[in-house]
Amino acid sequence: METTTTYPVHELIRQRWSPRAFSAQPVAPEALEQVLEAASWAASAMNEQPWRYIYAHKSDTEAFNRLLSCLLPGNQGWAKHAPVLVLSLVKTHYDNGNLNRTAMHDVGSANATMFLEATALGLHGHIMGGFDMDRTRETFNLPEGLEPVVFIALGYVGAAEQLEEPFRSRETAPRKRKPLAEFAFQNQFPD
Ligand SMILES: Cc1cc2nc3c(=O)[nH]c(=O)nc-3n(C[C@H](O)[C@H](O)[C@H](O)COP(=O)(O)O)c2cc1C
Repeated sequence: METTTTYPVHELIRQRWSPRAFSAQPVAPEALEQVLEAASWAASAMNEQPWRYIYAHKSDTEAFNRLLSCLLPGNQGWAKHAPVLVLSLVKTHYDNGNLNRTAMHDVGSANATMFLEATALGLHGHIMGGFDMDRTRETFNLPEGLEPVVFIALGYVGAAEQLEEPFRSRETAPRKRKPLAEFAFQNQFPD
């Protein structure tokens, strides 16, 4: 995957990208646990660690299909080939009942940390916000205060040819980002 940066950004960050084509190679349970442990080493407000995960390997067919069934059809089409599906959840309040205002931030940090560890192991993840919220809540009987955030397909990259268009061409297109000047401002926000 082509990633052109202006500055010499670390290889681990350059190598992370979101494939839709996954190979059939399973992910070893220990590798997945290592990736999940990495997530827990993210920073969080009051060290609350408000991230929760529900995951299934494809070999656990019933559990895997439960996760898969919560995705929107466009995502199901390719995510069904991933060897692992993960649901990332957020615990929205502290135990004393106060709202944890930065909980979503911390879940994002945990997921980003997870992806770095995955990349180091040669794995790739693809985050999906395209899922049915009500169905997910019902399927996993989620209590109040535990909210689905994103789903993640995880595995080893497969051949782009296994995808239908338009995903096939997108899979190999160079990655793009806004230039620094469009999102980072020295001293003050521009008028
Ligand atoms: C919160 C979030 C939701 C996303 N939802 C979807 C999705 O439902 N389906 C999908 O194919 N990609 C989804 N993506 C993947 C993004 O499209 C992808 O990260 C972005 O295009 C940048 O590409 P890269 O991750 O390869 O750098 C999502 C990413 C994030 C962070």
